[in-house]
Amino acid sequence: MQIHDKRFKLYIDEAKIQARILEIGQALTEKMKGKNPVFLSILNGSFVLVADLVRACDFDAELSFVRLSSYDKLTSTGRVKMHYGLDDVDLENKDIILIEDIVDTGNTLEFFLPELQAKTPSSITIVSLLLKPEVYQKTHPIDIVGFEIPNKFVVGYGLDYDGLGRTLRDIWQLEEE
Ligand code: IMP
Repeated sequence: MQIHDKRFKLYIDEAKIQARILEIGQALTEKMKGKNPVFLSILNGSFVLVADLVRACDFDAELSFVRLSSYDKLTSTGRVKMHYGLDDVDLENKDIILIEDIVDTGNTLEFFLPELQAKTPSSITIVSLLLKPEVYQKTHPIDIVGFEIPNKFVVGYGLDYDGLGRTLRDIWQLEEE
């Protein structure tokens, strides 16, 4: 499969993604018993995941979005930009489920978590569909990880390569040149 100038091969298919999301939904349902948490989705990448995950959870919840970016095409710039954030969102004493598509260097989380903690929520549960453990050098534990993957670029299921690929139902991995 081709996006722009790069070729990608099928890596995690839709059925496997959906099966894992059901498991994550069950784990969150157990953890959030008796609570009405706030799903906080980090855009753009996590929009597909959050839509599926809220429907895999058996509790009512609020939903909010922030938009952060740090990637330029295939690589992390190391600088995180907040396009819109938490200005008008009341999170005091709320249980937050923070939704990331992928944790790579962890720069995004390291930048954003202090902003979130400043809103004095009562708890923060971090969920990421994908984690690249070889690259992740930060100390914050990721509470729930869908799949650990090697340090190779992936697209699909919300993740993009230079703006495209987000609408693919499966996850695709960059082919070696
Ligand atoms: P981090 O700040 O380095 O942890 O990267 C987090 C963000 O970078 C993610 O939310 C994605 O938007 C982007 N990103 C990291 N790795 C990939 C990848 O393999 N494919 C597409 N986007 C990625």
